[in-house]
Amino acid sequence: EKGTFPFYMLKEVSEQPAVMRRLISRYVDQAGAPQFDQAMLEALASADRLYIVAAGTSYHAGLVGQSLFEQLAKVPTEAYLASEFGYHQPLLSAKPMFIFLTQSGETADIRQVLVNVKQAGYPSLTLTNVITSTLAREADYAVELAAGPEIAVASTKAYTAQVAVEALLAKALGMVKQVPAAAAFDVAHQLSLAATGQQALIDQQEQLHLLATDMFGKTRNAFFIGRGTDYFVSLEAALKLKEISYVQAEGFAAGELKHGTIALIEQDTPVVAFITDPVTAARTRSNAEEVEARGAKVLRIASASLAEPGDQVIVDDLDPLLTPLLTIIPGQLLAYFTSLDRGYDVDRPRNLAKSVTVE
Ligand code: M6R
Repeated sequence: EKGTFPFYMLKEVSEQPAVMRRLISRYVDQAGAPQFDQAMLEALASADRLYIVAAGTSYHAGLVGQSLFEQLAKVPTEAYLASEFGYHQPLLSAKPMFIFLTQSGETADIRQVLVNVKQAGYPSLTLTNVITSTLAREADYAVELAAGPEIAVASTKAYTAQVAVEALLAKALGMVKQVPAAAAFDVAHQLSLAATGQQALIDQQEQLHLLATDMFGKTRNAFFIGRGTDYFVSLEAALKLKEISYVQAEGFAAGELKHGTIALIEQDTPVVAFITDPVTAARTRSNAEEVEARGAKVLRIASASLAEPGDQVIVDDLDPLLTPLLTIIPGQLLAYFTSLDRGYDVDRPRNLAKSVTVE
């Protein structure tokens, strides 16, 4: 039931802090250590490479997971689009393990990969919001995202739950492998900071509505830029805007601007810049200035400790690996309000189904 919310999407966006807290109480013990099935952790620990296979928003969460597994568990990890992997399988490592990321657990493109993986005898794990789903049943192991039912076609709370569960798993795996970076990463504390920071952003929704109207009210196109993790959020924020407001939106690596896309910048072209990584903040800022000088209307979403006067949205500080848990909230809400302003059915965008059960 959507209760007092006009659309499920807004309800689901608003539930994200509660989902973060639920994941802490579900998967973290009193001593702050994540708890998962031992056999599953052993299977993950004996893999020499992890392959995360997913589609759409879940793929974008997989890109964030790639850095989490590499940095916290020191295991080479690659995220792949299921629809590509099925037909252009990369050369696999000697001991691969597959992680299928899927809200619904019914995505046909992933199932096709899972069937091949099982045939080859490789171990598999499905991270899903629907633990009774086909992909949960067919993989060797399954972990529940516990985001609660997601009704709106645009995925929101499943994305942040996926990133959070990947962080919990990467920490658990890093502990098994005795990686110092995992020991130093207080995942429960980070997720609890994320919950507080998300709530602060949700509480600013009136201001985000004004920004959405100003930025995207009349436009036919929009750009989202960032580097590293901020680039992955750019992809997801662009997908949200595309699917529910029908604005042609592109997310790309900020450094790629000058390699072509900057030719599209005109007077008032909207560009959203994500700035949460101390290592790349200055460079992304200078990319934002380059487009501004060519007439673009720029909206900066920055972490508190990197914020500068004029930045329109400030998110709390968080470990750079986990900032998508915060920066995607304005991404989701900007898309929501743009769709609302245009009078569309936010929950049921044209041409789309909640789960894509055909290849
Ligand atoms: O259920 P899944 O996570 O496997 O679905 C994958 C995509 O179809 C899904 O994320 C889609 O891109 C959403 N509509 C995005 O909001």
